[in-house]
Amino acid sequence: MSQRARIVALVSALAVVVAAVVGYELAVRPSATTSTSASRSAAPAAPSQRPTADAENTPAGDSSILVVYFSRTKGVYGGDLTVGNTARIAQMIQDRTGADSYEIVPLADYPSDYQETTEVAQEELDADARPEIRDPLPDVSGYDTVFVGAPIWWGEYPMVVRTFLDAVDLNGKTVIPFTTHEGSGLGNTQQQLEAQYPQATVLDGLAVRGSQAADAEPDVDAWLENLGL
Ligand SMILES: Cc1cc2nc3c(=O)[nH]c(=O)nc-3n(C[C@H](O)[C@H](O)[C@H](O)COP(=O)(O)O)c2cc1C
Repeated sequence: MSQRARIVALVSALAVVVAAVVGYELAVRPSATTSTSASRSAAPAAPSQRPTADAENTPAGDSSILVVYFSRTKGVYGGDLTVGNTARIAQMIQDRTGADSYEIVPLADYPSDYQETTEVAQEELDADARPEIRDPLPDVSGYDTVFVGAPIWWGEYPMVVRTFLDAVDLNGKTVIPFTTHEGSGLGNTQQQLEAQYPQATVLDGLAVRGSQAADAEPDVDAWLENLGL
């Protein structure tokens, strides 16, 4: 590829991500309000969290595949849910692959209101915060393949997922993103994983619209089939 073609390709890729976030901003984000009653401000960088083997929320199975996910039922676009959108996809991956799972639960709850959540998330993003995770982290050493799923927040993984990614080493493993979203697709999640773990094999992720998560099983099956899983 010529230098010029490379630059054009890079600019086009950036344009797609920017357009997705702007599209979300215009279509989904509630109009700005003058004040926020967000129940917490952006968290400072978390003290480094160490993996541990005997956690309540630590996978205990003997699979070589781990599904890590973050998902919420309150403060979600479109109203409260009984099961989080991303959690649904995580469950479908588990059902099909027999994978173990680990849910990333933030130490401090996000607001139960959608708009307030968007504001807190924006603050965390601006501060490059690493909100603390409630439970001990899983020992990932025994897994060959790790899925990392989350809702897209402002075009990216939520910062609490970045806390997780900073704390575990997935180099040498096969790492696969999946997201639910309202227009941004995978956002920059795949690039984030590639940048964070240069020695990992990052495979093509799956992006599902939040409102279609409950019906996504055929898409999940086809995607996993394609990945050879
Ligand atoms: C703080 C916040 C930021 C969001 N930012 C985006 C975004 O940039 N692009 C997008 O498509 N959807 C965005 N959404 C919508 C969520 O990604 C979507 O509703 C998702 O399915 C929620 O999944 P969950 O139930 O697993 O938390 C945002 C939602 C919240 C709460």
